[in-house]
Amino acid sequence: AADAARQLAAIAERVAGCRLCPLCSTRTNTVPGQGNPRPELMFIGEGPGADEDEQGLAFVGRAGQLLTKIIEAMGFSRDEVFIGNIVKCRPPGNRVPEPDEMEKCIPYLKEQIAILKPKVIVCLGATAVKGLFGVEPAGITKTRGQWRTYEGIDVMPTYHPAYLLRNPPAKKDVWEDMKTVLRHLGRPIPPPAK
Ligand code: URA
Repeated sequence: AADAARQLAAIAERVAGCRLCPLCSTRTNTVPGQGNPRPELMFIGEGPGADEDEQGLAFVGRAGQLLTKIIEAMGFSRDEVFIGNIVKCRPPGNRVPEPDEMEKCIPYLKEQIAILKPKVIVCLGATAVKGLFGVEPAGITKTRGQWRTYEGIDVMPTYHPAYLLRNPPAKKDVWEDMKTVLRHLGRPIPPPAK
């Protein structure tokens, strides 16, 4: 784990100096992702928002607070999992990252995954699925809840927490997906979060 932590820190340092796409010119901080260097569970979002850009940490704003609730409802702490993003710099105005921005940034995430070796990856939203698997013809409504495989790692796509903030009834679908993940990991299913 110490070795994994060192390798992750080396990637974060390269990310901090990255100028491969235009997002470097508008960022305050890079957001490499953070957490357990050898986690059972990894979450992948889209890209940093304003709070994340400010702090250099993934999922610390409103969507992040909801993600924390989901993680804790599953019986994990934030420190036990790894939380990352498809792009490491904030797209201005929180727009969806452009295909060329994703293409330039995705090798960092793939290197991170190779070090982290999580048992399960949860992709949060359509951009995370697109980033990891390439072109995604069906929308997240169709792909959520169904296992995929990336480099031998089981991947569960679900809705992004920012979508849940706009559409709270979809929380029950995310909870179904997270229960599927917990069963797969052989973990107990706690009662749903309120
Ligand atoms: N939304 C994301 O996709 N990632 C973050 O880090 C924060 C909000």
